[in-house]
Amino acid sequence: MDDYLINIENITKDFGNLRALDDVSLKIKKGETFGLLGPNGAGKTTLVRILCAVLTPTSGNGTINGLNLLEEKNGIKRMTGLLPENPGTYEDLTSFEFLSFVGELYSIEKKTIDQRISDLLKLFDIYDRKDDLISGFSSGMKQKVMLASTLIHNPPLLFLDEPTSALDPTVARTVKDIILSLSKEAQRTIVISTHQLPLAEEVCDRIALLHRGKVLECGSPRELMEISGTNSLEKAFFKITNLESKDVEILLGW
Ligand SMILES: Nc1ncnc2c1ncn2[C@@H]1O[C@H](COP(=O)(O)OP(=O)(O)OP(=O)(O)O)[C@@H](O)[C@H]1O
Ligand SMILES: [Mg+2]
Repeated sequence: MDDYLINIENITKDFGNLRALDDVSLKIKKGETFGLLGPNGAGKTTLVRILCAVLTPTSGNGTINGLNLLEEKNGIKRMTGLLPENPGTYEDLTSFEFLSFVGELYSIEKKTIDQRISDLLKLFDIYDRKDDLISGFSSGMKQKVMLASTLIHNPPLLFLDEPTSALDPTVARTVKDIILSLSKEAQRTIVISTHQLPLAEEVCDRIALLHRGKVLECGSPRELMEISGTNSLEKAFFKITNLESKDVEILLGW
């Protein structure tokens, strides 16, 4: 067995005529915090969904902790936590009921579930709303509940798809701190998909730059700057993806 928790080779995913992922190979080490960075439509969410065995690739294969991506999907799902991009929560449950339900799905003891729920809701500052229906929550509060549900079974592998997108700056800071603190624990691996460059730069050990379904470069933030001859991750991102910020005055010149 090698040190790689995630090892995928030549993954391609087509949706009809659209190639969302094009021959992607990646190796992610145990304990790494790994970022998938790329513009809208780059293929980040598609790759996350394939890595946590929710979506089947059109071709290619790989292993997650030694489990085959195509043949051992249930085993992969058991060892992972996924914060999806557009979480569908059970709106007619209270946050406490929803989190209890998720805990029970993972066969965690009731006493442990209750303790973890109160710890997580307190951490996210919504403990006083534990008996309120999720349908009445703001989008940031829903994201907090979803993040709590991702952490409740204490998985060794976490996938966070745009974890701070709906959050106010204080909570976004808490989430960054949670990521940093989780990543310090031995053997915990975190894969974050984002287009928020400061988030990627602060928490990721390595980053894969994705564009039009391809991995253009992969390395630490410093390595990406070196490769591109730039002095910030933002400049490296624009240089490597060959994207430029659009000239709004010309575009909206009417
Ligand atoms: N279920 C689907 N059916 C059809 N096309 C899809 C589907 N899911 C993704 N795609 C397409 O695949 C491409 C990659 O989408 P994906 O959601 O992976 O991008 P992304 O990098 O996560 O973008 P964003 O930053 O906007 O979240 C897009 O062109 C998208 O339209
Ligand atoms: Mg996405």
